Amino acid sequence: MGKNSPEFDPRQEDAQDLSLEASRIQIRWLIRRDMDEILKIERQSFNRPWNEAAFLSALRQRNCIGTVAELDHKIVGFMIYELHKSMLRILNFAVAPDARRMGVGKQMTQRLVDKLSQQRRNEIVLEVRETNVDAQLFFASAGFRAVTVLRQHYDDTCEDAYYMRFRLTADSSGFVFPNRIAGLDAA
Ligand SMILES: CC(C)(COP(=O)(O)OP(=O)(O)OC[C@H]1O[C@@H](n2cnc3c(N)ncnc32)[C@H](O)[C@@H]1OP(=O)(O)O)[C@@H](O)C(=O)NCCC(=O)NCCS
Repeated sequence: MGKNSPEFDPRQEDAQDLSLEASRIQIRWLIRRDMDEILKIERQSFNRPWNEAAFLSALRQRNCIGTVAELDHKIVGFMIYELHKSMLRILNFAVAPDARRMGVGKQMTQRLVDKLSQQRRNEIVLEVRETNVDAQLFFASAGFRAVTVLRQHYDDTCEDAYYMRFRLTADSSGFVFPNRIAGLDAA
């Protein structure tokens, strides 16, 4: 079907392009060399960004993991999370503005959901600023629910935070795909 054919639907082509992009996304461990690109995404994403020292201090903790998403060898997203006995906690997570709404965040979150198991870590938690509606909508679409309001949670503003949680239940194996590697204790 050519672009000029009567059946051509540009929205369909866009959707195909986006899913093609999504299939080219690779998620891997964060390494020191990634820091410049990560700091750039961080600054583009938050009014009060972490600096390099904050990233390094978090990543120095034994239970802290960093991952990045790459599209054509360019970093388009990162996630920093902690491993706890019965849960995973997302500390920092962003997708580059020009790579948003292409499923990058969804893939990174799905990767985390895949690590959950009924027997061990069965939930993912995070705090999101009350003004960060985009992130709230994103996490809600991924099956997270706001379970508590943390009043005046931040040092820099008097904003509240929503404490959001994704919980693996007996009849849920994740929000989109099956929990393929549940039970494996890997980061
Ligand atoms: C939140 C964030 C990581 C989402 O990443 P993303 O790659 O754009 O998200 P996805 O493309 O995977 O979106 C998956 C679904 O989430 C929902 N969603 C994502 N962004 C949304 C938005 N701005 N408004 C409404 N729904 C949204 C949609 O349902 C979307 O599916 P669709 O595009 O088919 O409609 C990204 O917006 C971001 O980096 N924001 C700034 C940093 C930030 O707030 N981080 C979270 C801190 S708690």
